[in-house]
Amino acid sequence: MSNLENMNDLVSLCKRKGFIFQSSEVYGGLGSCWDYGPLGVELKNNVKESWWKAMTYREDVEGVDASILMHPTVWKASGHIDNFSDPLVDCKECKSRFRADKIDINAPCEKCGAKDSFTEPREFNLMFKTTMGPVEDSGSTVYLRPETAQGIFVNFLNVQQTMRKKLPFGIAQIGKAFRNEITPGNFIFRTREFEQMEMQYFIKPGTQADAMEKWKEIRWQWHLDNGLDEDKLRWHDHGEELAHYADAAFDIEYKFPIGWDEMEGIHSRTDFDMAKHAEFSGKNLNYVDQEDGAKKYLPYVLETSVGCDRHLLALLCNAYTVENKGQKDERVVLKFKPHLAPIKVAIMPLMKKPELQEVARNVLSDLQKKYKCEYDIAGSIGKRYRRQDEIGTPLCITVDYDTLEDQSVTVRDRDTMAQDRVKIADLNKYILNKFEF
Ligand code: GAP
Repeated sequence: MSNLENMNDLVSLCKRKGFIFQSSEVYGGLGSCWDYGPLGVELKNNVKESWWKAMTYREDVEGVDASILMHPTVWKASGHIDNFSDPLVDCKECKSRFRADKIDINAPCEKCGAKDSFTEPREFNLMFKTTMGPVEDSGSTVYLRPETAQGIFVNFLNVQQTMRKKLPFGIAQIGKAFRNEITPGNFIFRTREFEQMEMQYFIKPGTQADAMEKWKEIRWQWHLDNGLDEDKLRWHDHGEELAHYADAAFDIEYKFPIGWDEMEGIHSRTDFDMAKHAEFSGKNLNYVDQEDGAKKYLPYVLETSVGCDRHLLALLCNAYTVENKGQKDERVVLKFKPHLAPIKVAIMPLMKKPELQEVARNVLSDLQKKYKCEYDIAGSIGKRYRRQDEIGTPLCITVDYDTLEDQSVTVRDRDTMAQDRVKIADLNKYILNKFEF
């Protein structure tokens, strides 16, 4: 059970162990931008794979990978150019900026303590703008997408027709999104560049309540399957406070060390987006329902949208465990589920002797055909175990002198620290069994 109390402990481990570095660190960093290091990218890829498999290895969902830059009218149609903004206030004394809806603007500035120092709130659009082509004029403005969803809406008919889909069916996508957040922070919780994993489930109008129930259940289970503790998850019902496009919305919140906050949103988006794209493009985007007398209508959409980085942060917080806290044999362990662990197996010859290394390297080259492995010869076995615990490696394999006699190795379990003696020939079966793939 995780006992992370302070996010700084996690930030420090992530840097020390090669999970996450500050972006452009040698230049002093770039605010709220982060780079995934060797272990971070493995973890992230595993998160994406687990989502992709859960969401698209099913009959009723297909995947796409749409471009980040889209026709600018997409964002006019979707409402982002006119509505995707947060209210911003400046402190006239210290020039700090705040989201007016996140602070009490009648209280003193929380940075410098000045009283009555805030400007009037003004709307600040969160989209990043850039230009396309060699001429920088207003006609060449394009936007970095603030959500991946729009790339799905505009491909609805392409996917429906090429894959001969019938409603209900979904389109899933993983990709980068960009928001010029006024107050990013809390490590990778809120950043200006992040990755979303979104699915739009196209349904017959009137069936949105059933679709909502179905996807709420599926998405909740996914977070549990990835190892998040159920008592750290809860639903937040948006009730009447809905985005302009939604008729119902629920968030899955996680209890981060900074408090409960949103990890995933499940939104009933009606036909708002499809209707807007039909209107602004002038194209007929209707679905022809052959099972209902060839009726033509715009589908309704049930969306599931989870931030990859935010779920990954929850996984790190949830996995971070200090055992025997404050004692001499304190042990820091990242208790990831095996399918998410960046390194699956560490292989360690007991000593640096060539005969042990030869066997260990053979084990390594066999196992790394399937698993990301690490080969570790530095330090005592105890130290090496602790190093692997700290990065969440589920299994450590030690090759010792007995191995040369009995063709067996010691396999040590990260969580129980129990050790099994396993024949090298049986290792693949043993690991498969342990990981329950
Ligand atoms: N298409 C719907 C949509 O984008 P959202 O609630 O704005 O909905 C969905 O975003 C998810 O994306 C959030 O639940 C969160 O996990 C993630 N997310 C949003 N803004 C983020 C940011 N600035 N940094 C990291 N993740 C973010």
